[in-house]
Amino acid sequence: MAVEAIELRRTVEGLTFEQMEGLFSAAGLGGRVGHKILRAFRNSPHVRVAFDADRLVGASRAITDGEYHAVIYDVAVDPDYQATGIGRRMMEELLRELRVWRVMLVAAEDVRGFYAGFGFAPYPDVLAKLDPERLHDPIRGPG
Ligand SMILES: CC(C)(COP(=O)(O)OP(=O)(O)OC[C@H]1O[C@@H](n2cnc3c(N)ncnc32)[C@H](O)[C@@H]1OP(=O)(O)O)[C@@H](O)C(=O)NCCC(=O)NCCS
Repeated sequence: MAVEAIELRRTVEGLTFEQMEGLFSAAGLGGRVGHKILRAFRNSPHVRVAFDADRLVGASRAITDGEYHAVIYDVAVDPDYQATGIGRRMMEELLRELRVWRVMLVAAEDVRGFYAGFGFAPYPDVLAKLDPERLHDPIRGPG
């Protein structure tokens, strides 16, 4: 499968929450319900979703103040399509749009090498406040 055949879109319009949930679950980012994932993407000003014809095979998004700061979230590629350059294409397109001095993201140990390829490195002095109750979505269905 040639990566050139994969179409990148800038919007999640037309996608169903089953498609989003399916991709996230297949990519190992499960535990979230699709309609909330979709809303998070709609609320993000920078989006890339990847398609092989009608099949959703990749997703990524970023939020930003447009001047100084941005954060990238939810970079996911369908396992059937991983290691074919889709993640790279989505990251390159997002980063081209994010004209800010600092882009941050959260990366598990096993994907740090992927992000290192774009210049991401451990960053000091980051604090986070977590609400564990909101990490996983217990209720299914629109809401
Ligand atoms: C991490 C992920 C997004 C990478 O996407 P991908 O489409 O498979 O990656 P690409 O094929 O575009 O790879 C781009 C480069 O990164 C490298 N790379 C990919 N995954 C890597 C990993 N886990 N560790 C180190 N390097 C990696 C590739 O070797 C390639 O290097 P090259 O350009 O020098 O050949 C994808 O594997 C994925 O969805 N993983 C599961 C979900 C996840 O963990 N997402 C990150 C949330 S923090």
